[in-house]
Amino acid sequence: MIGIGSIGTAIVKGLLNTGEVPPSNIYASARRFESLERARSLGINVSMDNRWIVTNSDVVILAVKPFQVENVLKEVRDLLDGKVLVSLVPFATIDRIRELIGDGVGVEIYRAMPNVNVEINAGFTALTGSGMRRDIVGYVFGLLGRTVWVEEKVLDLLTLLTACTPAIIAEILDAFMLAGLYLGIPKEIVEEAVVHTFVGTSMNVLRNGVYSVRNRVITPRGLTIKMIKHFLRTNVKYSIVESIVETYRELEKAMSVYT
Ligand SMILES: NC(=O)c1ccc[n+]([C@@H]2O[C@H](COP(=O)([O-])OP(=O)(O)OC[C@H]3O[C@@H](n4cnc5c(N)ncnc54)[C@H](OP(=O)(O)O)[C@@H]3O)[C@@H](O)[C@H]2O)c1
Repeated sequence: MIGIGSIGTAIVKGLLNTGEVPPSNIYASARRFESLERARSLGINVSMDNRWIVTNSDVVILAVKPFQVENVLKEVRDLLDGKVLVSLVPFATIDRIRELIGDGVGVEIYRAMPNVNVEINAGFTALTGSGMRRDIVGYVFGLLGRTVWVEEKVLDLLTLLTACTPAIIAEILDAFMLAGLYLGIPKEIVEEAVVHTFVGTSMNVLRNGVYSVRNRVITPRGLTIKMIKHFLRTNVKYSIVESIVETYRELEKAMSVYT
């Protein structure tokens, strides 16, 4: 793992949860001493030396920020020969990564877009790339939750819907909890009630579909339809669509330098 930050740590925790990957098999790097110490507490091997990390690994996961990709790849490219490289960096295309590494290096390049739920093996990871060792990549991310292989363009389109959405859902959960607190529901009950309602609804939607669930809660002149009317008046649904689409457009523009 080159870059054991937020998502790197979540992936390592998920892998360790399975018991299938011993901590001694995981090598991870970061820049700052504090980050390395935090990673070391997971029992894995840590170093500031990316070359040492790559030398010891068969599968190299690149989990740094987009502006750090070029320097990191320049530093380790000759050592990538014969390895599998999985980049988590949005918008850095396989072609661009190949260009930075150079043609002479026999590395299989894949991209993955996971979300933070991999830390409890309930992640969703979009994967892209083709090569002989696609099954290894599918296996590693399959240990962390659900995976789907997609075309490279779709992986970028999914960035906000999968990687960023846990934070947005947490914000929405918080709004529901605040409403509950405002109405006077005790703190320990409001969290349980809201979270389990979200989890249960998600499971129900998976099985029965979104409209089926909604339509069975709505009754003529009932409470739910009144609440939905308020939601529609305040444009909550439109705001969610608009915020995702607009943020994606901004991201696409900002990231065009890395593609
Ligand atoms: N967070 C998510 O949920 C998520 C989901 C999908 C994809 N991604 C993508 O994954 C990448 C990492 O995101 P993040 O949220 O984990 O960011 P982050 O928390 O900032 O982690 C980046 C890590 O890279 C390390 N690093 C920086 N330069 C390095 C270098 N030259 N050599 C080795 N390590 C270096 C940093 O070290 P220090 O800690 O010492 O600074 C840090 O630990 C980004 O491209 C992001 O878009 C993130």
